[in-house]
Amino acid sequence: MKKLLSIVLVVCMVLALGAVAAYADEGDLVGISMPTKSLERWNRDGSYLKEQFEAAGYQVELTYSDNDAVQQNNDIANMIADGVKVLIIAAIDSDTLSSVLADAAEAGITVIAYDRLINNADIAYYVSFDNYTVGVLQAQYVIDALDLENAGDKTFNIEFTAGDPADTNAGYFFNGAKDTLQKYLDAGTLLVPSGKLTFEQVATPQWSTDTALENFQNTLASFYGDGTVLDVALCSNDSTAAGVAQAIVSDYAGENQPIVTGQDGDIGNLQNIVDGTQTMTVYKNVSDEAGVTLVLVDAILNGETPGAELCEKFDADAAFDTETYDNGLGVVPSYLLVPYSIDKDNLDLLVETGNYEWDADGVYLVSTLG
Ligand code: BGC
Repeated sequence: MKKLLSIVLVVCMVLALGAVAAYADEGDLVGISMPTKSLERWNRDGSYLKEQFEAAGYQVELTYSDNDAVQQNNDIANMIADGVKVLIIAAIDSDTLSSVLADAAEAGITVIAYDRLINNADIAYYVSFDNYTVGVLQAQYVIDALDLENAGDKTFNIEFTAGDPADTNAGYFFNGAKDTLQKYLDAGTLLVPSGKLTFEQVATPQWSTDTALENFQNTLASFYGDGTVLDVALCSNDSTAAGVAQAIVSDYAGENQPIVTGQDGDIGNLQNIVDGTQTMTVYKNVSDEAGVTLVLVDAILNGETPGAELCEKFDADAAFDTETYDNGLGVVPSYLLVPYSIDKDNLDLLVETGNYEWDADGVYLVSTLG
C-alpha cells in the first residue's frame, strides 16, 4: 500500500512538473500588487514572488502602491487591462478593492489574497501565516520571560501597540496576544497604566514607525513620567516596534529595559535585538509564502481546485483552513504558514532559512537579497 502511495505521489509530482513546464512555455502574465516599499517586508515579498514566478517561466508585472489605496486600485486596473491571468494582491485597505476585483472576476482572472485578506470580493484563495498565532507567540514570550505563571503577588506593567485598522491582519495579531494574556490581566498580574486596552485605542494607521513613536512618547510622558516602571511594550510588528523602541531610548525614565515584541525580522529590528532595545520578533518566512503561492497558482492554472492535498507539495509547513477567514462573501479557503519566535539566542535559525547571513564582523544579520 505504502509503495502504491509513493508511486502515485511520484506520478503526481511528475504530472505537476509537466504542468508547470507547459505553463512556463506559455509565459502567462501574473500581476503582483504590493502595498508599499516603505515597509521593509513588502520589498522582500515582491522580490521573492517575482524571482520565483519568473524562474517558473511566468511573466510578472509587479507594482508597489505607496500605501495609497486609490493608487492600488489604479495599479490593479492597469494590470487587468494588460491581460494578467492571475492577480496576487497584498491589500493596503482590505475594504476598498471590491469594485476593481469585480472587473477582475468579469475578465476571468484568478485572484489570490496575499498575506492580507480582502473583504467583499471574489477571492479564489488566501495565502498567509496563522495571523492569530503571531499574537499568541508574542504573548507567550512575555509569559515565559516574566514567568507569569509563578508571579504570585508580583505585578508587571504592559502597554500595547497594534497595527493598521485598514489591515485585517492587525486585529488577529492583537487578539491573539490579548486573549493569551487575558488571564493575567484579569488576575491583576499584568497592569496597563495607560488604560489603553482596546484595539482602537492602540492601533497605528499604516503601521507607521513615526506614529508609533509619537504615540508611545505620549504614553510614556503621561503615565510613566513619575518613574513608574514599564515591563512590557507588546508591539504587533517590527515597524511599530522600531518607533516604540526609539521612544523608550529617548523618553523612558526607568532603569530597566522593557521587553519589546515585534514581527517580521526586519534588518533594523534584528540589530535592535542584538543591541538589546528590542527583545523578540515573530518570524514569517516570506520566501516560503511566495513558494506556496507559486505552487497554488500552478495548480489553479492547471485546472485543479486545490484543497488540503496541495500542502504535500509545499516546501514549508502549512495548514489548509476553510473556517477562519470569512471576507463577507463567505469563507475564503486559506493556506496558512507557521510563524515562530526569534530572540537574540536563536538568530541562527534565520541564517538557516537562507534569507539572512551574518555580516563580516559576525555581529549583525544582513539580508541575502542584497
Ligand atoms: C503583515 C505583517 C507586517 C504588516 C505591516 C501585515 O499585514 O502581515 O507582516 O508587519 O502588515 O507591513
